[in-house]
Amino acid sequence: MTLRAVELRPLGRTVPFLGFGCGTLSGRGSLARSARLVETALELGVRYFDVAPSYGGGTAEEVLGHVIGDSQEVVIATKHGIPRPPYRPIYERVRRLAKPILDGSQSFRHLVRRVRSQARPSGLLAERHDFSATAIRQSLDTSLRLLRRSSVDVFLAHEPVPEDLTPETAQHFADAVKDGLARCYGAAVGAMGESPVVFGNVWQSGWPGCLWSGSGSDVMHVFHGALRYRDGVPCLATDADLEWRMRQFAALAPASVLIVSASTPHRLRQIAKAAALDA
Ligand SMILES: NC(=O)c1ccc[n+]([C@@H]2O[C@H](COP(=O)([O-])OP(=O)(O)OC[C@H]3O[C@@H](n4cnc5c(N)ncnc54)[C@H](OP(=O)(O)O)[C@@H]3O)[C@@H](O)[C@H]2O)c1
Repeated sequence: MTLRAVELRPLGRTVPFLGFGCGTLSGRGSLARSARLVETALELGVRYFDVAPSYGGGTAEEVLGHVIGDSQEVVIATKHGIPRPPYRPIYERVRRLAKPILDGSQSFRHLVRRVRSQARPSGLLAERHDFSATAIRQSLDTSLRLLRRSSVDVFLAHEPVPEDLTPETAQHFADAVKDGLARCYGAAVGAMGESPVVFGNVWQSGWPGCLWSGSGSDVMHVFHGALRYRDGVPCLATDADLEWRMRQFAALAPASVLIVSASTPHRLRQIAKAAALDA
């Protein structure tokens, strides 16, 4: 199985376009299960991993650290913005118990997501996070320790509001690059349809948001959410339409990375198989 390759211009390297989103990975009690997912992604040829301090109750970076460590064969993107929550094993157990119930009903699943997103709004209109120089550097230091790396490839402002993306904030992220702790920086927003903002040279957003049309030819556009939304409307992928979604992504964003998440190795194999069809 071969995945179509895309050029990551800010990094000067090429990787398969399909990236793995670590939003549902959890360490500690779920480390073995989460590690299997990362290993499956690697076996399938995935080389781009998207993570954040807040993922997996604050433990997702530990999983990547455990499985991937300082390997330079993969691209690791982490973020600073949404704070790392205190780890609460009970949340993980509740999530695991609730998943089969949620999986049984798409509409119930969307309702839960809507309630959660209203409790913590996301995207460019979200609550403010601390983008001071100290907060950014402390967060990156912790991420690097948990990831067991000396640097990350991509360092993103996680769900900033437009006012956060100032020249000063850009300078703090650029300083991390200058100090060798990151290779490039940018911003990641959850919302679709937001116009890309000039901030570093990576822009990550929900599919099918606006494609980058700025002048910077070295801007890398990364998308997520293509299995959760169809034509801009919440609509989970099905086995039958995975292939269609992947073809649509290839047609509309042939030079971009697509981040997907999956809760089982079987699901991830299905997605990669559909993604490989256009290779
Ligand atoms: N602001 C940000 O930076 C931001 C925001 C959102 C997302 N992200 C990144 O993007 C990653 C992916 O985001 P996402 O999980 O929202 O979107 P996604 O990858 O588009 O959707 C994943 C969901 O689709 C389901 N799915 C896939 N194939 C399916 C099928 N054949 N049948 C039924 N369900 C199917 C998966 O179910 P199962 O769980 O059952 O496998 C999973 O719940 C995150 O992990 C994170 O890394 C970043």
